[in-house]
Amino acid sequence: MTNRRNLILGIGGTLALVGAGAAWRVTRLPQAADKPWAQAGNPELDPRLDAFRHAILAPNPHNMQPWLIRLIGSDQAEISCDLARRLPKTDPFDRQIVIGFGCFIELARIAATRRGLRVEVEAFPEGAGEERLDARPIARLRFVAAPGLAVDPLAAAIRDRRSAKVPFDLSRPVPAEHLAMFATSGSELVRFDNTRAPGEVDALRTLCSSAFERELRTPHTLRESIDVLRVGAGEIDANPDGIALKGPLFEVLSLLGADKVRASGRDPQSDTTNQQIERYRQIFAQTPGFVWLTGLGNSRAHQLAAGQSYIRLNLLATQLGLGLHPVSQALQEYPEMAPLFGEARRICRVAPGETLQMLARLGYAKPVAPTPRWPLEAKLVRT
Ligand SMILES: Cc1cc2nc3c(=O)[nH]c(=O)nc-3n(C[C@H](O)[C@H](O)[C@H](O)COP(=O)(O)O)c2cc1C
Repeated sequence: MTNRRNLILGIGGTLALVGAGAAWRVTRLPQAADKPWAQAGNPELDPRLDAFRHAILAPNPHNMQPWLIRLIGSDQAEISCDLARRLPKTDPFDRQIVIGFGCFIELARIAATRRGLRVEVEAFPEGAGEERLDARPIARLRFVAAPGLAVDPLAAAIRDRRSAKVPFDLSRPVPAEHLAMFATSGSELVRFDNTRAPGEVDALRTLCSSAFERELRTPHTLRESIDVLRVGAGEIDANPDGIALKGPLFEVLSLLGADKVRASGRDPQSDTTNQQIERYRQIFAQTPGFVWLTGLGNSRAHQLAAGQSYIRLNLLATQLGLGLHPVSQALQEYPEMAPLFGEARRICRVAPGETLQMLARLGYAKPVAPTPRWPLEAKLVRT
């Protein structure tokens, strides 16, 4: 009898412990992965590190953070691409990766103004692979003291900037005067455009849904996303990049095994894929307006300039309390996407010789959490 009682107490105790453990597991959140957002404000002895602490917060495709930073002498740095962090299935010419570098370099430039430094950018100093990137540097930056240089007002928004992958409030249209302010994000290489016209917005919502579905129903492009899924806080902290799935549901799934989650996600016809397509169809449906950046060409210089324009747009939107969400599926250059690529060019009035570099949803949204980042130290190349 006593033995039986002990046994029951023992099982009860173990269950209670397991219960407490599981409750901790399912409610935990990534820790290290969010730290780079908090540290961005700490002034560094070396102002270049200060600038790069902000630059690593740049938006970039699938959050792969492909940057490598080599400090040279006391006032320069060389930026190059970690070629293993590209996304060849959805971005076969590395166009979007270069746009991410444009965002990165512009953030470094904006942040450096806080230290009274002007950044001189020499893009692709040894030339560029126009078909695919190679080991040659993306840019050399020189930080030059510029007494009296005004702090770029966008610097204040760097830590609050997000990609708002959420539904927008359809009852709050974006004011025309805000859209007029966005027009300043264009340059001599990139044209800013937008629409709030119901017919065009509807056409773009449908296009985004169809292109998203095309990407997920195409096995090799679906796989590229699934391979970079990070399931639960443990995986996210260990690899703070890719597509981070956090929250109680994903903690439970991570207990079952993240590899199982990824394996089931690779089926283009699975329930999980169907649910994702439906979820994003609803997000796209809740879009009051779209903005886009058209490159007047598609050279590496045009792509870098598009990134520079895009991050300025994203920071300005942040300051105006607006959410911005890139939707790139229809802009991607792989054969299965070709008909929708043509449709995107038609709706966005892209002329021959021009390239649609960025398309994004714009609207008012609830606050969005930051995405993971590798610490700056992981991106510094020491030679
Ligand atoms: C060139 C480029 C293309 C992108 N395309 C998409 C996209 O199609 N869908 C999407 O949800 N996010 C897209 N993003 C946003 C990234 O997923 C996002 O920047 C990254 O996950 C980091 O998140 P954060 O911007 O909130 O810091 C794109 C970003 C860049 C720079």
